[in-house]
Amino acid sequence: MIIFDNNVFTLHTRRTTYQMKADAYRVLVHTYYGARIGGGDLSYLIRYADRGFSPNPSEAGHERVYSLDTVPQEYSTCGVGDFRLPSIELELSDGSRLVDLRYKDHEIRAGKYALEGLPAFHGEGGETLVIRLEDACAQVEVELYYGVFEEHDLITRAVRIVNRSAKPVRVTRAASVCLDFMRSDMDFVTFDGRHVMERGMNRAPLRPGVQSVGSVRGISSHQHNPFVMLCDRDCGEDHGLCYGVALLYSGNFVAEAERCQFGDARLVMGIHPYHFGYLLEPGGAFTAPEAAMICSPDGFTPMSHRFHRAIRQNLLRDIPGRKPVLINSWEATYFDFDAEKLVQIAKEAAPLGIGLFVMDDGWFGKRDSDMSGLGDWTVNERKLPGGLHALVPRIHALGMRFGLWVEPEMVSEDSDLYRAHPDWALGAPGRPRTRSRSQLVLDFSRREVREHVYAALRRVLSSAPIAYVKWDMNRNLTDVFSAALPAERQGEVYHRYVLGVYEMLEWMRRDYPDMLIEGCSGGGGRFDAGMLYYTPQIWCSDNTDAVDRLTIQYGTSFCYPVCTMGAHVSAVPNEQTGRMTPLKTRGVVAMSGAFGYELDLSRISQEDKQVIRAQIRTYEDNYDLIHDGDYYRLASPYEGEGYTAWEHVSPDRRAALVSLVTSSAHAAPAFWTLKLKGLDPDAVYRVSGDERRYRGDVLMRAGYPLGMVKGDYQARQLELRAED
Ligand code: GLA
Repeated sequence: MIIFDNNVFTLHTRRTTYQMKADAYRVLVHTYYGARIGGGDLSYLIRYADRGFSPNPSEAGHERVYSLDTVPQEYSTCGVGDFRLPSIELELSDGSRLVDLRYKDHEIRAGKYALEGLPAFHGEGGETLVIRLEDACAQVEVELYYGVFEEHDLITRAVRIVNRSAKPVRVTRAASVCLDFMRSDMDFVTFDGRHVMERGMNRAPLRPGVQSVGSVRGISSHQHNPFVMLCDRDCGEDHGLCYGVALLYSGNFVAEAERCQFGDARLVMGIHPYHFGYLLEPGGAFTAPEAAMICSPDGFTPMSHRFHRAIRQNLLRDIPGRKPVLINSWEATYFDFDAEKLVQIAKEAAPLGIGLFVMDDGWFGKRDSDMSGLGDWTVNERKLPGGLHALVPRIHALGMRFGLWVEPEMVSEDSDLYRAHPDWALGAPGRPRTRSRSQLVLDFSRREVREHVYAALRRVLSSAPIAYVKWDMNRNLTDVFSAALPAERQGEVYHRYVLGVYEMLEWMRRDYPDMLIEGCSGGGGRFDAGMLYYTPQIWCSDNTDAVDRLTIQYGTSFCYPVCTMGAHVSAVPNEQTGRMTPLKTRGVVAMSGAFGYELDLSRISQEDKQVIRAQIRTYEDNYDLIHDGDYYRLASPYEGEGYTAWEHVSPDRRAALVSLVTSSAHAAPAFWTLKLKGLDPDAVYRVSGDERRYRGDVLMRAGYPLGMVKGDYQARQLELRAED
């Protein structure tokens, strides 16, 4: 619900309230964000005082208690008195860089706004508020968009900057969200790591000054995720106030948290200003990507649940029906395969209940290693005689669907595409290009490049029924210079690249609406809410080790629902870590995601095949609650309790699946009692492998006895069903 009353904007969701006000100087001040309250004008909370060095706006005269440096703001300005983090920076034609934004007007609309060419939450239940601010001197308008989804407690934001002047203006910073707090006793929580070790949780108190995470790699990155939280110092899963903010963007970003001088704090998040400069001709506009905020007054779990539901219901554009369990060829064969070998793997997979065969890298051009072939999207008939036209029916005959790996944004120097169009790769003239994985990045800011690649992909995708595409992207951007743009527009290339990727994904969705697209960037290098709008699942990490996956999937779960996380069982010793883990454990971890296998099934024993059959049965039996239920983190992999545990509960609380994986074993292990969550306290549950019946309240308050678990990295799974 959006209310405007006496210059006060109040946004109510079911459990939270957000408030701002156009004050006496028409500055849009932020007055409240937290648990839902009745309303009223909360601007009395702002502490006005004469604070020495703090400047005041000219129209305040000698009224020194009013300063932009101390009032909490909705979209911070620069150069005119606020020395904290700016949300916007402009380069005006006279060389000045001053921005002073004041309220102009606003509009409240039914339905949620959309953003052209950018991902955004959509669908039922949304409302829109647009507040227009203006810098009267520069003649620049800034439209602040707010989308409110009451049921999800979700508030989205986006920003559009319009040049109303007769001269060009360059946007050099345009945050998507600015969130001011009249307190700073909070923790800043980020999700960080590296390739094959993404999204580890890091939590630290805000300290004076600015703390930031971000990416200048051209993709959202393995190193830092564009989802961050601020929370009470003692916030836990089930108590404390927390704020989660996700940016729907897949390129360079920054999330900055500042603890300011008067016990206040500011969070600013958006496109990274690094090498960013977007030129607006008179009348031109720039749209900053959407950010999504959820506040939970009751800890992390409710915040995650609301993000999960909002993403599932109002962001993903998933294909209808159940997604089959898949087998992916990568860790089974790498580049070394032919049609016979693939069909052999599929023949092993089909009787186990695997419904989708995915042919990974190596099927096209001259691609026998990662040194060549990218850009040449034609089937390698030496490996696959007769092309997909011949292969796919053989897979279908086994009762399986067929999927394909592609990496459209890349080119190998040893490829026909590169030989024909060397200037289609990003790179500055006369400067050697920087290789990574022996490949270069195509200039996706150029439409003709996108169209050429897409036309080639279409020929392949239309040559046989393809149910699934894994869209990969295996390096960071360097040499970011586009041969097609003039000097003064080179600061736009990073962003135009992202828009280009989004556009081609949109073409693919339009032309193949029933095809599932999985995102991937060396695993989880582009795991963000922006990509999820186009690719409803993302390969979570190139690390398939079940133990490392515990922390990766744990960190990922704070914002992103389980159904978005590609997770596979692979062979042991694990390719990435060398670790041995039981097949059961690998299955328990991978089935908490978009489940699949990635190993040579012709090399495993009959006994292991039985285990796989049982795993797939468990997954299928619990599919709805894994994909649509509530996910509870019961025991964190960081807390050294000896195990990590999590639970999926169906929306009606009649069914649950509890999973647990132990750490390395020690002698005389403790007896564990696991307290479950989210059950119906009055229902009576059957627990798999147990004769006894348990009430929900007993399982939640007193717990379930796990007894002693011996051995490293052992897994247990409990299936709960309520009795009628
Ligand atoms: C990336 C992906 C892998 C695999 C390889 C193929 O690393 O993350 O899953 O597809 O590329 O080259």
